[in-house]
Amino acid sequence: MRYEWAMKRLKDGLNFVLPKGRLMKDSLKLLGKLGIVDTIPEGRELIYEGDNFTILLAKSFDVPVYVEHGVDIGIAGSDVVEELESDVFIPLELPFGICRLSVAVLKGSELDVRSMEGFKIATKYPNLTLKFFNSLNVDVEILRLSGSIELAPRIGIADAIVDIVKTGRTLRSNGLVEIHKIMDVSAFLIVNRISQKTKFERINAFVNGVKELIKSGWEC
Ligand code: PRP
Repeated sequence: MRYEWAMKRLKDGLNFVLPKGRLMKDSLKLLGKLGIVDTIPEGRELIYEGDNFTILLAKSFDVPVYVEHGVDIGIAGSDVVEELESDVFIPLELPFGICRLSVAVLKGSELDVRSMEGFKIATKYPNLTLKFFNSLNVDVEILRLSGSIELAPRIGIADAIVDIVKTGRTLRSNGLVEIHKIMDVSAFLIVNRISQKTKFERINAFVNGVKELIKSGWEC
């Protein structure tokens, strides 16, 4: 039954999956500007159905998973797409969700990342963290967490963190200092590889609409 529902949706209008969390507001602004949807009623409902579209709300790390499994279009951070090595088509980088993935340590214990051999690093990004330290030939141990990463070095269960930094306020509030940027991050538009072929015209029209909007200098 559920599968039939999904297939029906896949045949009908476009399906979007948006990340709950820091990219949600700007994602809705983008869809609003394109005349798709302005607001989603507040509540616990995770599926919002419009006339010719469906919007699903998911955790940011799950957005690429839904798109890989058949949802047409998603908005996800480049950090998440690269961490998961998601098999999706990426037609566009979006002009929001700009931040960076960085290494941070407790204030007063700043050091070069090349001197972190044997360190325990708390992070939601084990793959990107290992790739980064491997590229330096530095062996580290990963402590995988799902959020509030800043806590780990504060209570002494990790030596450092790898996490998203935007304003730097969260680090400062937790007595941490950014010592090295691993990568710049922004939001990506991601598309299911099969939908890109089977719904080519509609997806292309949507992507072109977003491109035009960005070209016109739209800022969220
Ligand atoms: C991210 C990150 C930091 C915060 C950094 O959290 O994990 O906690 O943003 O932003 P700042 O530099 O502007 O303070 P996010 O909201 O993505 O959720 P999380 O706490 O689940 O990681």
